[in-house]
Amino acid sequence: MRHIQTEILQVNPDHPEPAIIERAAALVRQGEVVVFPTETVYGLGADAFQPAALERIFAAKGRPYSDPLIVHIADEESLQLLTPTVSAQAKLLVEAFWPGPLTLILPRGSRVPDLISAGLPTVAVRMPRHPVAQALIRAAGSPIAAPSANRFMHVSPTTAQHALDDLAGRVPLILDGGSSKVGVESTVLDLVSPVPTILRPGGISLESLRVVLPSVQPPRRREAVSEPMHLQTEMGVQHLPASSPGQMLIHYAPSVPLLLFEGEPQAMRTAMANEARKRRAWGERVGVLVADEDVAAFQGSDVVVHSLGSVPEQIASALYAGMRALEASGVQVILCRSFDERGLGLAIRDRLLKAAGGKIFQSA
Ligand code: TXA
Ligand code: MG
Repeated sequence: MRHIQTEILQVNPDHPEPAIIERAAALVRQGEVVVFPTETVYGLGADAFQPAALERIFAAKGRPYSDPLIVHIADEESLQLLTPTVSAQAKLLVEAFWPGPLTLILPRGSRVPDLISAGLPTVAVRMPRHPVAQALIRAAGSPIAAPSANRFMHVSPTTAQHALDDLAGRVPLILDGGSSKVGVESTVLDLVSPVPTILRPGGISLESLRVVLPSVQPPRRREAVSEPMHLQTEMGVQHLPASSPGQMLIHYAPSVPLLLFEGEPQAMRTAMANEARKRRAWGERVGVLVADEDVAAFQGSDVVVHSLGSVPEQIASALYAGMRALEASGVQVILCRSFDERGLGLAIRDRLLKAAGGKIFQSA
């Protein structure tokens, strides 16, 4: 891996300075990679039509070529560069949700490089809402392929500092536009399968998609692919039923084990507090990831308490930063509560399950 100097440039998130955007766009045109803010998470972008630039994305992240990339566009006309036909369903969704955190899986156009689609006959496209992302794509003069700007298998970045922590020395430039508001990645919706199906829940909820397209199906449940940790507990460990191939369950994970608790809030808090006490007795440093309503239950219990807020929008927005903060605090295990699955809750639950490697502590 090459080692390069990583520059960080502050950019106004609402009214990006043209000179700063041009610095980044020039790098993209030259075939370089650039980290930029989007409304979901920070992206690691390169010109979608320069295969050598795309290779740099995979190298910087340490990502396998088998994982396809999302192409980001700034106007609807650019869809023509990427897909041969835009169905009536796709048009409805574009009308309703773009720009915004919705990625559509569409038939792949002949010009789309293999590296983007990982050899699939499809391409993932999204139009981000963030003014910096839009300005960068326009100034680059080409669609920008961008995965989340984290090292492969790590938690996605919602600030420039997170991206720097993962990619320092591996990218020439990070545009710092403050915290990502949505905080979880875009919803990936497959429009090529017979029934529109969510592949990854994200910033646009199942409920809102169904208002526009009632046939949209929720993601299929997945199965844990390995056992990342040994749970020493009297409580049951639940494995998830059914599987869909090609998607790894362990993903987006912090570098310390995360144990996910489920049940009624009060039972969940009690189970978490018991587990924390036991682990403290072993001498483990324990972090808990909770909502505002849970904080009092952990007062005086000698654990690092991190609250994500109270409503789903806050919790999604604070989720990855919370995992990274606990990681950085030096805890050896993170005990995390689960949240209601409605709305953004489905995406929150998906990320927590992935971080936990699919295992759940059933506390009620
Ligand atoms: O919010 C987001 O989507 C962020 C920001 C930067 O836009 N990007 C992002 O990219 O999360 P990444 O690479 O971390 O996740 C892309 C997801 C992966 O789950 C990948 O498998 C899926 O999209 N994907 C990409 N192309 C696909 C395709 N042709 N068919 C099915 N899934 C695809
Ligand atoms: Mg990612």
